[in-house]
Amino acid sequence: MNKINRRNFIKKTSLSGAAIATASALSSSKYVERDKKSQYMGDFAAPKLDKVRLAFIGVGARGTGHAKQFASIEGTEVVAICDLYKDLAERSKRLCLEADNQRHKNLKLYHTNENDWIKMIEDTRPDAVFISTNWDNHAPMVIKAMELGSHAFVEVPMATNLKDLWDIIDTSEKTRKHCMMMENVNYGRDELMFLNMCRKGYIGDFLHAEAAYIHELRFQMEEQERGTGSWRTHHYAKSKGNLYPTHGLGPVAQYMNLGRGDDNFKSLVSYSTPALGRKLYAEKNYSSDHKWNGLEYNNGDLNTSIIKTSMGRTIMVQWDETSPRPYSRHNLIQGTKGILAGFPTRVALDGGVEGITKNHHSWAKGNALEKLYEKYDHPLYKRIGEEARRMGGHGGMDFIMRFRIIECLRQGTPLDQNVYEGCFWSAVTPLSAESILNDGAPQKFPDFTRGNWKSTNQLDIIS
Ligand SMILES: NC(=O)c1ccc[n+]([C@@H]2O[C@H](COP(=O)([O-])OP(=O)(O)OC[C@H]3O[C@@H](n4cnc5c(N)ncnc54)[C@H](O)[C@@H]3O)[C@@H](O)[C@H]2O)c1
Repeated sequence: MNKINRRNFIKKTSLSGAAIATASALSSSKYVERDKKSQYMGDFAAPKLDKVRLAFIGVGARGTGHAKQFASIEGTEVVAICDLYKDLAERSKRLCLEADNQRHKNLKLYHTNENDWIKMIEDTRPDAVFISTNWDNHAPMVIKAMELGSHAFVEVPMATNLKDLWDIIDTSEKTRKHCMMMENVNYGRDELMFLNMCRKGYIGDFLHAEAAYIHELRFQMEEQERGTGSWRTHHYAKSKGNLYPTHGLGPVAQYMNLGRGDDNFKSLVSYSTPALGRKLYAEKNYSSDHKWNGLEYNNGDLNTSIIKTSMGRTIMVQWDETSPRPYSRHNLIQGTKGILAGFPTRVALDGGVEGITKNHHSWAKGNALEKLYEKYDHPLYKRIGEEARRMGGHGGMDFIMRFRIIECLRQGTPLDQNVYEGCFWSAVTPLSAESILNDGAPQKFPDFTRGNWKSTNQLDIIS
């Protein structure tokens, strides 16, 4: 072992010891008991709001679409926007005014320093704050927003480590403010249809699911001074495990009703491949003294984790943002009476899919999907799917999510995703890192609900 490798080895082993200690501390002591003044937030409904006053932090690639579309939804007023960059804040203001120049006419902008978002919340006291910044900023922004009296909505993932996830839960329970990680994929047409079919029992009892975020994003390395690549590229070097688990996992977790009565996340094992692709890409596309060639890319290109649920079901979760191949989220669930799968969308049922296939040996897919949609489309999609397709945003799923957030806040009903679900889904990142550092050893999920998942209502089929 040469000197550098030996130093890395020592660093890794001591890191893994520290990591185990942190993990066990986080699943015991202070985190077991809920503060007496706090409230379980699983089925929480906030007082209804006639008009919802919104503020946005981070209007880059993702936040711009949020500001624009929320501004177009009835019953909203955008009161403020904050970004580090004046031009981005101004662009989003323009888009909000184009949506409705009366409703949003008092919109204020904040862009003078990295803490201006606190001043924005203090000045304008919004009902809801929407956070679409880099991952490391999610937890502090979510926590402060709730402490200052706003409901917090944050982009995926909720946070990147277990301590931050617990702190988010404790703050939501203490302040009695909603905190939702905005998993838009749960609102895709196929995902809604599969949820509907699962709830109606078409695939019987659940056995196994597969989820993924396989999306080749090396091109983001072109964003070097600002924009997604400027911060996300560093995670491929310094972070570990599955860095983006929730797009694939969120939908299958709701098919299986995890954390809501029946079943829950129990443990996880994880392995990653060697880390090769980012280094290769940097060497091919940038000069040897370029900053991307100065990074040590330590996180394996492709991560595979297997989750075991309390009832013994399994979920395979994969992640790869580097290797050249077509996009996939897998989106698969196997039951005792059939299978629903994505990429491409296909369905097979015991005894066949009525009017399409004769038995479970062939898939209903391709042109036959229209018949499937006709029969099994989710009522929510039937209600607003056409408007969502027109409004756009990942094929309409973004609009349906935004529409539902405002609808729930205005009606004073629970949100479709509670704070614990966002935390369970995001916890795959730190737990996969722990497992990898310990040669694939199983890691227990913390029970973020402190036992209350057993009496939490399942997500209804919203019509
Ligand atoms: N759900 C989805 O489909 C989806 C898609 C893309 C990105 N995302 C998520 O959205 C988030 C943002 O990603 P992005 O690609 O838009 O990144 P981005 O870099 O384009 O945008 C982030 C913005 O946050 C701003 N920001 C950072 N720190 C700030 C601070 N202290 N005060 C004010 N503004 C600050 C930056 O100036 C930037 O404009 C990430 O969490 C990402 O994972 C989700």
